[in-house]
Amino acid sequence: MTKELELAKLLREMANDALLPLHESRLVFGEGDPDAEVMLIGEAPGFYEDLEGKPFVGRAGKLLDKLIEEADHQRQEFYITNIVKRRPPNNRDPLPEEIGAYKPYLEKQIDIIAPKIIIALGRYAMNYFLPEGKISRDQGKIFWWQNALLMPLYHPAAALRRADLVNDILGGLKKISALTAEYETLLQKREPHTEDSHPRTKEQPQLFS
Ligand code: URA
Repeated sequence: MTKELELAKLLREMANDALLPLHESRLVFGEGDPDAEVMLIGEAPGFYEDLEGKPFVGRAGKLLDKLIEEADHQRQEFYITNIVKRRPPNNRDPLPEEIGAYKPYLEKQIDIIAPKIIIALGRYAMNYFLPEGKISRDQGKIFWWQNALLMPLYHPAAALRRADLVNDILGGLKKISALTAEYETLLQKREPHTEDSHPRTKEQPQLFS
C-alpha cells in the first residue's frame, strides 16, 4: 500500500473512532508530502485550523510559513500535523488524557511517514517525545527518537508574543538541510539501544549543542 493510501486509511479509522475526545471539533488530520523527510508536529488545532481542517493556517501558521521560506524551504516539502487532532475548547491547553487518546494515531502517522527529522513545535509537542524536556533549555538541540532526529523548537504562537524567539525558530529551521544530508552517517554512528531502554520515551544522547 502506498503511504498516501495508508494515511487515508488511518484518517478513516480516526474519523470513525467515537471514543476519541473533543468530538465537537473538526478532525484536523495533517497535510503535506507523504514522502516528506521532515515532519513538523504542533500541539492542537486552533480556531482557523478547525474552520479549514488544516494544521497551522492561523496567525501562528502564517509566521511558521514565513520562517520556513526564510530558511529556504517550502511548507509543501514537509508533513505537518499535531499531537492532538481536534481543537480544545477556547484553545485551552490539551489535557494529558487527550494527548494519550490521540497518541496511537500519531504513532501510526509517524510510522507511515517515517521521517528522518521530527520538529516538535512547542512544549507540549516536545514533552510528547521528551517527557523531561524543557523548551527554553532544549529548543534547537538534536535528539534521537526511534530512527528520527528530533529537534524541539519554540512554538510559533510563542514567537507572536515574544519576538526574540523568532530567531531561535529560524535558526532551527536553517539546520534542516544539514541534518537531512548527514542523517545516514549519523544513523550509522549511532549508539545501539540497550535492552532496557524505552525507545519511545527515553531521551537519547544529544548529538549537537
Ligand atoms: N497551533 C498548533 O499547535 N497547531 C496548529 O495546527 C495551529 C496552531
